Amino acid sequence: MSQDQARATRSAQASEAAIAEAARILRAGGLVAFPTETVYGLGADAQRGESVAAIYAAKGRPTFNPLIAHVLDSDGASRQGILSREARLLAQAFWPGPLTLVAPVAAGCSISLLARAGLDSVALRVPAHPVARALLAAVGAPVVAPSANLSGAVSPTTAAHVLADLSGRIDFVLDGGPCGLGLESTIVACLDERPRLLRPGGISREQIERVLGRPLMQSPGSDETIVAPGMLESHYAPRALVRLNACDVRPGEAALDFGGCLRGGLAYRDLSPSRDLAEAAANLFAFLRLLDGSGAASIAVAPIPENGLGEAINDRLHRAAAQR
Ligand code: TXA
Ligand code: MG
Repeated sequence: MSQDQARATRSAQASEAAIAEAARILRAGGLVAFPTETVYGLGADAQRGESVAAIYAAKGRPTFNPLIAHVLDSDGASRQGILSREARLLAQAFWPGPLTLVAPVAAGCSISLLARAGLDSVALRVPAHPVARALLAAVGAPVVAPSANLSGAVSPTTAAHVLADLSGRIDFVLDGGPCGLGLESTIVACLDERPRLLRPGGISREQIERVLGRPLMQSPGSDETIVAPGMLESHYAPRALVRLNACDVRPGEAALDFGGCLRGGLAYRDLSPSRDLAEAAANLFAFLRLLDGSGAASIAVAPIPENGLGEAINDRLHRAAAQR
């Protein structure tokens, strides 16, 4: 980013006054990081192309990945996208909450073309976090928000993580404490009558399939043009190398354990000593950042079961371990 884009970043506890201030900054075209139940988002007014462009610049996103538009409720979502029968079922079951629906754009869609990366579909999410909701209500318009980290880096689950990556690049951080869930939303494309899982996340596949009454289609096959570019192989990457399914800790490694099966390491954290996947999800990104900060060349990660939230945790870990 060039010098003239440098911004003075302020941070404040998410009081009523701070939320009003954040809304004012967004309406004026600025960039505000705010807490959601999944991870911190970097918000901009979805309707202003230049603000959306500033998000890409601040994150250093190499290409224009489409962004998720955050709205207050299903009515707000229906103004932007055409919700199919399946989409409405899922919205009713999981909104507000960590589910993003990709839908064909509605005639009156006001989300800027840049935020949609020129696609004729739009990603919509109704967050549950009270601070995110208060902010959306105060702005009175959709807010696009990718995770508030540098492109390719580990997603932020605290205001301190946001500042570590983006201080000097954004205008304001609303500090609402640590995110409860700690993993991004599940993304489901509802572009025809066969919903597809584009990204595993905070709502498990099993939960979604129970509501739909049938299995989700797999994420895009080779013949498909629709992809979630956030599904790029290397993503969520710490500086250190990541070694998965480790049964031991080698010299010079840090250890990311699950259920107390590893011993030792330059630094050590257990995602959940009691093998609780929700606890592990909430700790995942913070512990990756912390172990990365230990200076270890590599992080050994214990095996994580694949059921429930485990699918999303393993998805992020595989990306963190992917060749860069
Ligand atoms: O939990 C979350 O979803 C967080 C919080 C801040 O809401 N946001 C988030 O945004 O994870 P981001 O930008 O890191 O991920 C958005 C994902 C990307 O993989 C993008 O490619 C996909 O959504 N996406 C957005 N619009 C799409 C579309 N029209 N079709 C397919 N994928 C889309
Ligand atoms: Mg992200």
